[in-house]
Amino acid sequence: MKVALTGIKPTGIPHIGNYLGAIKPALELSQSCEARYFIADYHALNSCKDPAAIRAMTLEIAAAWLASGLDADKVLFYKQSLVPQTFELLTILLAFTPKGLMNRAHAYKAILQANAESSRDPDDGVNMGLFTYPVLMAADILLFDTDLVPVGNDQFQHVEMAVDIAQSFNFSYGQECFRLPQPLATEHSKTLLGLDGRKMSKSYGNTIPMFASEKELRKLVMRIVTNSQSVEEPKDPETCTVFALYRNFASPQQVERLRQRYLAGGMGWGHAKQELFEVMNATLAPLRQRYTELMADPRVITRSLEEGSARARELAAAKIRQLRSIIGMD
Ligand code: TRP
Repeated sequence: MKVALTGIKPTGIPHIGNYLGAIKPALELSQSCEARYFIADYHALNSCKDPAAIRAMTLEIAAAWLASGLDADKVLFYKQSLVPQTFELLTILLAFTPKGLMNRAHAYKAILQANAESSRDPDDGVNMGLFTYPVLMAADILLFDTDLVPVGNDQFQHVEMAVDIAQSFNFSYGQECFRLPQPLATEHSKTLLGLDGRKMSKSYGNTIPMFASEKELRKLVMRIVTNSQSVEEPKDPETCTVFALYRNFASPQQVERLRQRYLAGGMGWGHAKQELFEVMNATLAPLRQRYTELMADPRVITRSLEEGSARARELAAAKIRQLRSIIGMD
């Protein structure tokens, strides 16, 4: 069976972009793969130095996985910081990572460019954790003999870098010490749109939280930006944020029915939004219920992460033993 591995950084509260773009497809994949899903908490440290925030967001992301149906008996579910072998592997991999490879990382280059545009020092705000982020991610991936990495398109380059680093190591020792991972697209061909019609993203502040209360969810849906067409006018489903979101939650029949109502005219935006609210709420209500139960006693969540992390440490320790012997540190 193939090994699938992915991590979510605990920055920001889980929103429906996380659910549709990462959690849901990863859980589907776990039916046919040996799945290893973790909270990438050390990745959050580069940008967040608030311990209470890290703790709270780690708990929320873990609860989001569990509320979405992750079965910790089937999926190896753990917290990166509880698997310290990750950081030994990071040290090993750093010696196989050309600095130039990191210079080419999109995320790093975006910061350089933003700094240049505001006439700041090129490396302003860049710490070494951020600069070497792709190496830590490679360690996460390579430590567990991963075949498939379900991620959004923005993470493809990082997985490709993990392959480069693994190949460099394998070549040095003339053996297949690391399995070469493959990124697996989890995003739909169309990006998920947020409240303002731009890509749904924490950084745009246009997200819909996964666990918004029913009232809050209705309020957010009613706030989605639409054009100013009158009720009578026929409307174009293809350019409408409400319709784009509806597609992600409704059955094909429901989608077709709403499409016809758009094209026929006589339907106001309030109606379309009400339809959207109903399908979203139908999907999210049971998740919200489980989330509320989990958060009422977070010990269930932490215990699940601790047990998973203990098993992850055993696998990781075996891999590190093998690597130490290869590099001559046994
Ligand atoms: N970098 C990923 C993100 O920002 C999170 C992540 C960390 C990850 N380590 C990983 C994803 C390993 C897949 C595999 O979304």
